[in-house]
Amino acid sequence: MKILGKYPNIRLRRIRNSDWMRRLTSENSLNVNDLILPIFVREGKNKIEPIKSMPGVFRYSIDKINIILNKVKKYKIPMVAIFPYTPNNKKDKFGTESLNENNLVCKSIRYIKKRYPKIGVMTDVALDPYTTHGHDGILNNNKIDNDKTINVLVKQALLQAKMGSDVIAPSDMMDGRIGVIRKTLDKNGLKDICILSYAVKYASNFYGPFRDAVGSKKKLKFDKKTYQMNYRNSNEAFREIGLDIKEGADIVMVKPGLPYLDIIKNIKENFRIPVFAYQVSGEYSLIKIGIKMGYINEDSILESLISFKRAGASAIITYFALDIAKKI
Ligand code: PBG
Repeated sequence: MKILGKYPNIRLRRIRNSDWMRRLTSENSLNVNDLILPIFVREGKNKIEPIKSMPGVFRYSIDKINIILNKVKKYKIPMVAIFPYTPNNKKDKFGTESLNENNLVCKSIRYIKKRYPKIGVMTDVALDPYTTHGHDGILNNNKIDNDKTINVLVKQALLQAKMGSDVIAPSDMMDGRIGVIRKTLDKNGLKDICILSYAVKYASNFYGPFRDAVGSKKKLKFDKKTYQMNYRNSNEAFREIGLDIKEGADIVMVKPGLPYLDIIKNIKENFRIPVFAYQVSGEYSLIKIGIKMGYINEDSILESLISFKRAGASAIITYFALDIAKKI
């Protein structure tokens, strides 16, 4: 890039001097159309339960999710992502509850699609909210068995799609699952259901508060490094993306968000496919607690979200979706 001119002819501060000029020369902006709100659901009635590790985020019993959905509707947030807090007595080694058509996710999908048909619903495909060991797949001698896990994930994806989920989001990081899920959906007349692949999901330290929110944290006996990505790598991320696109992913996701802006930018430039970013629970809590303690300003929320737009993300999954939608 050639820089033309020099000081004192050029004074870059001239385009920063007033609010209106800064607005005119902004290269990026954030719009409600860029936002996806995650919602945690739990069993019971009349429950809105705070999540300690995520101040300002709650688990809702299904009879109460209308409270948050009314806000989603009011601010025109396009889509919500559903995550279940499964009671311990419904967890087992195989994550069987994931295939129950009356589990929390299936009930939520039906509830939302019936009462809020214009809100998109996205659901995670992975077994961790349902397993006693907290892993995303089937354990075999302390290892996650890729192909056995896919057999269950395909059924989970098909069930969610039949219940009315619009966007199937495999977050498990098994090899080859996108292709098998796409084929199965098509065979079952569900060819319009979208697949949003968590194609690049790092074995990150920033998922802690989420694991607490879905109740898998204390259960996890060893880490997820044999299936989630090594955070030292980027070439591997592009291989993941290439494979998932070939297998039929419509949209790809990078997760976590802020530490991986380089990956988002590179995918956007090289693959020409919509890229979503997931600003994960640890990122949320860091900022939220920083604000609560008075160490950083509320504007840091917008700053963090705009950085995703600058990098090239089409949309952002963020626990700040409602807070920020109110402001913009
Ligand atoms: C699990 C899943 C995780 C998140 C979304 N789906 C956690 C994990 O892989 O352990 C994390 C989201 C967040 O931290 O906000 N399949």
